[in-house]
Amino acid sequence: MKTLHTPPSGVSRRDFAKATLMTAGGLALDSLGSALKAAETGGRRIRTAVIGCGSVSNQYLPVLQRCPFVELVSVCDIRPERARRQSEAYRVPNHYPHIEALLAGAPFEFLIDLTDMQAHEAVNRRALQAGKHVWSEKPIANSLKAGQELLRMARQRGLRLWGAPITVQSPQFAFMARKIASGDLGRLAAAHAFYGHEGPDWSSFFYEKGGGSLPDLAVYNLTSLTGLLGPVRRVTALLSIVTPERTIHDKGTIRVTEEDNAMVLLDHGHGVVSHVQSGFNYFNPHGHDGSGEKRHTIQVTGSRGYVGLVGYDWAPQAVEWATVEHPQLVKESTDPGGYLWQQGAALAAECLATGKELLATPEQALHVLEIITAARTSSATGRTIPLRSTFRWPLPV
Ligand SMILES: NC(=O)c1ccc[n+]([C@@H]2O[C@H](COP(=O)([O-])OP(=O)(O)OC[C@H]3O[C@@H](n4cnc5c(N)ncnc54)[C@H](O)[C@@H]3O)[C@@H](O)[C@H]2O)c1
Repeated sequence: MKTLHTPPSGVSRRDFAKATLMTAGGLALDSLGSALKAAETGGRRIRTAVIGCGSVSNQYLPVLQRCPFVELVSVCDIRPERARRQSEAYRVPNHYPHIEALLAGAPFEFLIDLTDMQAHEAVNRRALQAGKHVWSEKPIANSLKAGQELLRMARQRGLRLWGAPITVQSPQFAFMARKIASGDLGRLAAAHAFYGHEGPDWSSFFYEKGGGSLPDLAVYNLTSLTGLLGPVRRVTALLSIVTPERTIHDKGTIRVTEEDNAMVLLDHGHGVVSHVQSGFNYFNPHGHDGSGEKRHTIQVTGSRGYVGLVGYDWAPQAVEWATVEHPQLVKESTDPGGYLWQQGAALAAECLATGKELLATPEQALHVLEIITAARTSSATGRTIPLRSTFRWPLPV
């Protein structure tokens, strides 16, 4: 199996803000360049539609625009002015106000779902029913059962289904996974990961049923830790709401009904236990700027060594490790290698075009979804919750 780690080139998160301001002429040239590159690499361009033209589409669309394996055909949003705006900004020929119009419009084969978290399941199901391959922002569905049904449906129809996040695709993840597998850390014992900020203020769905900081934020660390340490057997969690009311643009004050503070304990078997801390009430002097975060946000400890990820797993900067033989921290894997958190759909298009495979699989995404629902059950009942799902591990990094 050929496995995709990173694309040929990449830009920093900050550069994306600039990319969204590119001129239409520049984009047209990009598009031509992409077509030439696809021809050079022997891949074809996948006719692609994007549904959901909100905040994160400003991160995805510039990557898709540059991707040699993508031909952007249509954009869609139930707020039609957003679809129109993105179709103009990124020179996408068609825009539609709802999924049925999108499906009945210009032909395409690959749908990228960037809608509200609560809408993913229904949008993904409808797209699969209509014979489209799907990349979904997290989560793929609202429950493990529904997600597994979607995956079954995809397989029965010869379609592909993938879900964000793709933290396992970074060179820093690969470095950590190889360090752990090498045995340098001795008997593996424990890991800790954290991610948080002060919470989005542009949409209320983050705080409503089906939202919460677990599927929005902890999902990154849960993907990294299960990728590094293996599938989880049981989950114990304490969740809380720290800020019961929020002010949201265009909406005013809303009530927060889902966790905005989460502590999740994971049993990976063989004595290995890890912990994820995540929430929407985390002061951070760097805000959302991943490049500003210099702490070890993932820390893995064994009887003879330690390995820590510098920066967030969605924007990793380096790995530092120490062992009994080398007790001073050594910094390695400082090259981003073209990895970008928002390139998952572009990598999926490359898979469709060339037959290569991603390290990020829907089975792992659904396992992480089960951890999230188990954490909620654990916190509500005070019990430790056994898990049913699993995924192929170790990953072939
Ligand atoms: N914003 C970010 O920086 C960011 C980063 C990583 C992941 N995400 C994920 O991306 C997804 C979208 O987040 P966002 O911040 O862009 O939210 P957003 O509210 O800015 O955008 C969502 C868009 O989807 C549209 N939409 C909702 N239901 C729809 C439907 N049924 N059909 C068509 N359009 C529909 C909304 O009108 C809105 O324009 C979420 O899953 C979020 O967790 C966001």
